[in-house]
Amino acid sequence: MSGPTELRELAGRVAVVTGAGSGLGAAIARQCAEVGMTVAALDIDESRAQATASELERLGVPTAAMRVDVGDAVSVHDAAARVDEQFGGCDLLVANVGVQQFGSIDRLTEDDWAWLLGVNVLGTVRTVTSFLPAMRRRTGWRHISVTASSGVFVPSVRLGAYTTSKFAITGFAETLRLELADDGIGVTIVFPGGMSTRHLESSALARPETLGASVTMPDDIEAMLSGNAAMASDVMSAEEAVQGLLADLLADEPYFMTHGSYRSEYEARLADLARAFDRMESRARDA
Ligand SMILES: NC(=O)c1ccc[n+]([C@@H]2O[C@H](COP(=O)([O-])OP(=O)(O)OC[C@H]3O[C@@H](n4cnc5c(N)ncnc54)[C@H](O)[C@@H]3O)[C@@H](O)[C@H]2O)c1
Repeated sequence: MSGPTELRELAGRVAVVTGAGSGLGAAIARQCAEVGMTVAALDIDESRAQATASELERLGVPTAAMRVDVGDAVSVHDAAARVDEQFGGCDLLVANVGVQQFGSIDRLTEDDWAWLLGVNVLGTVRTVTSFLPAMRRRTGWRHISVTASSGVFVPSVRLGAYTTSKFAITGFAETLRLELADDGIGVTIVFPGGMSTRHLESSALARPETLGASVTMPDDIEAMLSGNAAMASDVMSAEEAVQGLLADLLADEPYFMTHGSYRSEYEARLADLARAFDRMESRARDA
């Protein structure tokens, strides 16, 4: 077991991580195992979930790998039942899956929207509601981490459906935090910036065949990056991005930032909002 002393209290607790076969989910699962947590690694790609679980087992913690499609209610319910049976509940739920689909607003099809919102929004909601009973049955520290995106602070062109989905789960997680306060279950929203992961590749693989291939136009990524300096200049590994996450979850911090580069855009938005209040107050004074 490694890490700061306060994290030792997490040893023996049960973590469930979705999207644990790759990138951010795998990095969070690894952090959990490093402090002695039992880890259930869930992913639509079973062999990758298994690879993560096998790696973590070498750290000497109990693990399980499960194939789960968060876009499918039955699949998520089954996984929750299996985790409950195998580990007797869940203390930390990391609802981390999110898929990506480039396209300008007038090019995204209804099927694109339905898939993206079905996985990113409804998938997050059903992950939480499916595992909540197993969390409520446990006592002591329990926490839910939801992966949003820096896109909530710095929206980009060609990512309309994705950004909409991340705004939606931010609203969901904010409400969840309020509603679970009496249960003693904390909620943290993670806002990752650019990371060098398999996100585009794994999203294309997870896309149902019936929708046809995901089409990224030659200039989509260039257009997105040209309007988003933070995303273009500040790309890190998933491991770097989530350094210190467990300490923040343990401290019940509501938000976790991975990169400093989108702070100025966030502050610019706050300033725009403050000016809208100023104008409203000025209208009220003049009335
Ligand atoms: N990579 C970035 O730059 C970036 C930036 C901001 C936010 N994010 C968010 O971080 C989270 C993790 O992404 P990542 O960058 O680690 O990507 P990744 O591709 O490395 O990992 C995502 C994992 O989710 C799995 N997955 C996809 N669809 C699934 C489904 N329906 N059910 C279960 N598992 C499924 C994939 O198989 C993959 O293993 C996502 O929510 C993503 O939106 C990523």
